[in-house]
Amino acid sequence: MARVSTYDNPEFIRAYVDNIVPYLSRTLYGHVVGVVVSEGSRVLDAGCGNGEVAESLASKGCRVHAIDNSAQWQDYWRREYGNSTNPKYDRGNILDMAFRDRTFDTVLLNMVLLNVPTARRVEESIAESRRVLKPNGRLVITDLDLPSLARGLLGTRKVVLPTGFHFMEGDPYETGLQFGDGRKFVFRNVYWPLHTYTSLLAKYGFSTEITEIINREFMAPEYLLFEARKDT
Ligand SMILES: C[S@@+](CC[C@H](N)C(=O)[O-])C[C@H]1O[C@@H](n2cnc3c(N)ncnc32)[C@H](O)[C@@H]1O
Repeated sequence: MARVSTYDNPEFIRAYVDNIVPYLSRTLYGHVVGVVVSEGSRVLDAGCGNGEVAESLASKGCRVHAIDNSAQWQDYWRREYGNSTNPKYDRGNILDMAFRDRTFDTVLLNMVLLNVPTARRVEESIAESRRVLKPNGRLVITDLDLPSLARGLLGTRKVVLPTGFHFMEGDPYETGLQFGDGRKFVFRNVYWPLHTYTSLLAKYGFSTEITEIINREFMAPEYLLFEARKDT
């Protein structure tokens, strides 16, 4: 029986750490860390999950604050990292960040907005990120490049996208994954196309570079990375 993923389910959290984090470490995290890292800079990892990227950034000299709204992740950080001060972990909501204006050099939303269910909330999280960024600070966002990924996966059995899937802004979609130990989970995400990001980032005064991150196994871009610079 497949379980629906939720970051408040301890079983899913364990499966995520055992299976998804190693996959993201191979395919995505190195690119993200390479873009974000800058010695001594103040970084907010917003929606940080288990803290894999936050730990890597701190080990490379960034001063990292990491937040996530899942109580399960909070338990996990306590177990794994104790009272770490860099990264500093706090339970927090990306829609209402408990930080002063102009605090961070970089805000990272790494594979987070695909969990945000409405365009209005995506907009709120971009507005909040802008508020806590210093002038000329950077907002780095990643998401799946779903149309490209689906094309690349055609004819493979790696991931099964539901039949009838279509690419409309704000559509929920499900991806079923069976992990090595046989457990099956269903990921429920929301599709935000390129224009959701480019139009909101322009509206909030960012100039944005977009990078495609290629998965060589699929020979297709698997992720999109937005590096958005706040104007003032
Ligand atoms: C796909 S995971 C990515 C986690 C991590 N950034 C990574 O790359 O491994 C999405 C994360 O976003 C968090 N999240 C979703 N909505 C959030 C919100 N409104 N505020 C804070 N965290 C949120 C979830 O709890 C989950 O840990």
